[in-house]
Amino acid sequence: MKLVFLGPPGAGKGTQSQRLAQQYQIAQISTGDMLRAEVKAQSEIGQLAKKLMDNGDLVPDDLIVSMIEKRIQAEDCKNGFILDGFPRSLGQAEALDKMFERQGMKLDAVLSLNVDEEMLADRISGRFSCAKCGASYHKVFKKPAVEGVCDSCGSTELVSRADDNRDTVLARLETYKKQTAPLLPYYEKKSCLYSINGMKNVEDVAKDIDLILKKIK
Ligand code: AP5
Ligand code: ZN
Repeated sequence: MKLVFLGPPGAGKGTQSQRLAQQYQIAQISTGDMLRAEVKAQSEIGQLAKKLMDNGDLVPDDLIVSMIEKRIQAEDCKNGFILDGFPRSLGQAEALDKMFERQGMKLDAVLSLNVDEEMLADRISGRFSCAKCGASYHKVFKKPAVEGVCDSCGSTELVSRADDNRDTVLARLETYKKQTAPLLPYYEKKSCLYSINGMKNVEDVAKDIDLILKKIK
């Protein structure tokens, strides 16, 4: 199964992708996580990406596209994958189409999570994650079972993201509206777009996604 998750910052793409990856034994490919790893490693890509991410801008298409092309050929993608945060511009969507064509792959569905701006702000302001395994939490909506301890790996290093401050979040939202929202009609025309009400709680959103995936399997 090959899926794309679309949605504004804080819509729940990472949360639902992590769950689906476990449930269906497929790879979660988050371009945001890949870029944050490059930033942490202080690589050349990381140094370029950091400035853009801090401003809420997209990193250049060619850089992201070549990262994805390499990543989807890895062993853990044999069973399928979820693209979480890619594509994010029409250029990236067209590049993905060509990539799939070259590799004889087919996109099964594009899942679009709809959440209003007030709720996006609530979700982002309460978000934190595990620095060791990447598991994502929220101070109200998704607390770890034991405060300060990651449910998945037991680490106590729970951190907030550098780009989750108010100004950068507003910029990320604008970037989404201008550059990523045009992908909705792009995929609608291809008849593979499924819109999901992302305002419900994590479990109910998950149920709605499972119903869609049962239909397309
Ligand atoms: P990225 O890391 O992809 O960030 P984003 O798209 O802004 O999305 P988020 O990770 O903020 O939100 P999410 O939808 O995953 O929500 P989450 O599940 O965490 O990208 C970061 C930056 O990298 C970009 O700005 C750009 O610079 C660069 N970049 C990345 N990809 C790129 C690309 N393809 N091209 C160019 N540049 C790229 O949920 C949020 C919170 O809410 C969590 O705390 C969670 O626990 C909680 N929550 C989730 N669902 C629910 C629910 N249903 N009810 C209650 N709480 C919930
Ligand atoms: Zn962890």
